[in-house]
Amino acid sequence: MPDQFADMWRAIEPLGRASSGGYFRQPFASAERELDAWFVEQAEARGLRLESDPFGNRIAWWDSGSGPGVVTGSHLDSVLDGGAYDGPLGVVSALGALDMLRDRGVRPTRPIGVSVFVEEEGSRFGLACLGSRLATGATTWQEARGLRDRDGVRLDEAMAALGLDDENPQPWLGSEQLACFVELHVEQGRALVDRGHAIGVASRIWPHGRYRFQISGEPNHAGTTRMEDRRDPMLTYAMTALAANKQARVAGQRATFGRVDTQPNSTNSVPSVVTAWMDARCESDEALATLVETITRQAEERAERDGTRLAVTAESVSGAVDFDPELARRIAVDHEAGDWPILPTQAGHDAGILSAQGIPSAMLFVRNPTGVSHSPGEHAEMADCLAGVDALAETLERLAT
Ligand code: GLV
Ligand code: MN
Ligand code: MN
Repeated sequence: MPDQFADMWRAIEPLGRASSGGYFRQPFASAERELDAWFVEQAEARGLRLESDPFGNRIAWWDSGSGPGVVTGSHLDSVLDGGAYDGPLGVVSALGALDMLRDRGVRPTRPIGVSVFVEEEGSRFGLACLGSRLATGATTWQEARGLRDRDGVRLDEAMAALGLDDENPQPWLGSEQLACFVELHVEQGRALVDRGHAIGVASRIWPHGRYRFQISGEPNHAGTTRMEDRRDPMLTYAMTALAANKQARVAGQRATFGRVDTQPNSTNSVPSVVTAWMDARCESDEALATLVETITRQAEERAERDGTRLAVTAESVSGAVDFDPELARRIAVDHEAGDWPILPTQAGHDAGILSAQGIPSAMLFVRNPTGVSHSPGEHAEMADCLAGVDALAETLERLAT
């Protein structure tokens, strides 16, 4: 098993890797498509039945037993300059766990599937967990098809170029197909390091959202326009970013401006428009609504003073998810080395979408020694990755036999 896992990991490691050591695996683009082809090969090599949906999602089925299946998997896309583990660890571990069960001669009473959902990060089309949203109907095709990437390419065009050209694709994934879903994921914080555990189980996902702040001003000359005559959207943006940081700190929550676009992006001009995206995450839906409202109000006040105009649009919002506590407990307890800790996470996952759509879902976390994620510094030690495969195999055995 260690060799099989290491071989799979080595095979995908170079795909989409940049000189920073980070990964650019955007959906429906070359590196992510190579990973998709790799996944298809892995399914075929194992004699699994490959189910491919009109949205680009895949499930490789081990057709053992009967009834709705137990599915495990994750995603193969990354954020821009992301880490190696966020997503792929869950897919490679799922294949490894399936191999382990077969090697041990386990006979599941339910089918076991290994899934890959597309555009989990929302790094290209802006809507997080797009593949699982479309498959479950959490987002409709009509709502999603017109989403555009940074180059103006529409989602339906990008998909059609790959042969995903169904005019009216329908949601299809629900509890008739899935008895439950388990996503293994690298931990994206330090809770497991701090507790001295290699494996954890998710209790809940914080609600989170992405909000586009579009601030329009008056383009003008950087030298000849007196400071008091300017209507500068960069100032409104700068003050908004500071306000977001302060308000999130005060409330004990999270707010980040990680993406900014300025027009015309000219050094010697006052910009015409600054567009900035805020990612906000809070303990509760109410806290998230309050935080976004407070920051928006402060941005509006600042826009008034700067003589700029502000429009705020929610691009991707995911409500709080409480995973089935019984399922989490069933997975976490009675292990040789003691119970696995059950922890909340501030990161979004397809498991959260499936759970919100009524599919009993759970997550396993694998320790990340630095806690760094969405960055080239993301890491998990090989011994912990292998512990993750073991943990996932044990979990599947509990759920599917
Ligand atoms: C996905 O990883 C997210 O939490 O943004
Ligand atoms: Mn991620
Ligand atoms: Mn992920």
